[in-house]
Amino acid sequence: MRNLTLNVDLKGRDYPIIIGADLLGSAHLVKPYLGSGRAVIVTNEAVAALYLERFEANLREAGIDAFSISLPDGERYKTWETLNSIFDAMLAQRCDRATTVIALGGGVVGDMAGFAAATYQRGVSYIQVPTTLLAQVDSSVGGKTAINHPLGKNMIGAFYQPRLVLSDLSTLSTLPRRELSAGLAEVVKYGAIMDAEFFAWLEENMQKLMARDLDALGYAVERSCKCKADVVADDEREAGRRAILNFGHTFGHAIEAGLGFGNWLHGEAVSAGMVLAASMSARQGEISDSDVARLARVLKQAGLPVQAPSLGAQRYLDLMGYDKKVQDGKLRLVLLRSIGDAYLTADFSAAGLEQVLTDIPDDG
Ligand code: NAD
Ligand code: GLY
Repeated sequence: MRNLTLNVDLKGRDYPIIIGADLLGSAHLVKPYLGSGRAVIVTNEAVAALYLERFEANLREAGIDAFSISLPDGERYKTWETLNSIFDAMLAQRCDRATTVIALGGGVVGDMAGFAAATYQRGVSYIQVPTTLLAQVDSSVGGKTAINHPLGKNMIGAFYQPRLVLSDLSTLSTLPRRELSAGLAEVVKYGAIMDAEFFAWLEENMQKLMARDLDALGYAVERSCKCKADVVADDEREAGRRAILNFGHTFGHAIEAGLGFGNWLHGEAVSAGMVLAASMSARQGEISDSDVARLARVLKQAGLPVQAPSLGAQRYLDLMGYDKKVQDGKLRLVLLRSIGDAYLTADFSAAGLEQVLTDIPDDG
């Protein structure tokens, strides 16, 4: 397939997203975005085993002075200690302010490497090279960087935009099936919140995506990134509209926390959470029950759970109270007016929400 390029329009901080196959072997695409300094590739042990040697060798062949830092793999390492290990290595290598950080990996690596770039010597450039579907359609775009705190996910971080996003679709060939599905939850999200035509395309093409057809994946990544770039250009720091990207996430975070982090993948929890948010929208008299069924059907085709676990309505409400969208003590939800049209609101029936949560059937 030919490469596709999109632009994230941020008035003076614009950057391209290049999507294509075998891009890890295309150092010439990276070179124009490096300054005069060195490149430090931040990755993790799992991704390094698959892709680092080739990527690093390719950069070196193109005359780029690069070295790498390999982090332990997993969300539990998205911590201050791991972040500090990036600083330790950069300082030991005497990296100066002309250094460019290159994040090679999924969202965990991307969020941490981005935060390291935002803060190392008060900020150096960085490039995202996302290798999971979730990172290609979501976390590598939009400049949210963070580490976790023991009291909450992504609690410490910065808005800091990359110079380039290079999405190599070929890396998705090695992604575990569950991780592919988790990324597809975010893809379906874009259709549901802002692109009804794309949603209909997903209904027709989910099997191709599950079979990792490169053209279908390229189209889905491009269309998802277009949606995200549009929202980010409009509301970079989430003063309002960007919150629609959290459709299903308030319920999803409650599921992740309620089951214990790591039991369900984030995308799996978001999938069941989107069905709850859609049910809530139907209860508000916005979308039809058949639209809720359409959403559940396409998520199921993506191999995702659509039935939320039965934590109990009160437990859900307690956990949802920790959501970052809570304002002045009031919960706000992202709901659907129709498939392809989402909005953020605090104006919903509390009794209706309780009923949606009470209606979740027992797991057993
Ligand atoms: P991840 O980074 O943990 O990657 C999932 C697993 O896949 C890991 O084990 C990883 O090593 C492995 N992997 C990565 N690429 C691979 C490949 N090509 N082949 C085989 N295995 C591969 O998880 P993720 O789903 O990519 O990202 C989740 C993280 O992203 C969370 O920390 C979340 O908070 C963050 N996130 C950030 C944003 C944002 O806007 N910044 C948005 C959404 C999610
Ligand atoms: N993943 C949600 C956002 O970037 O705002």
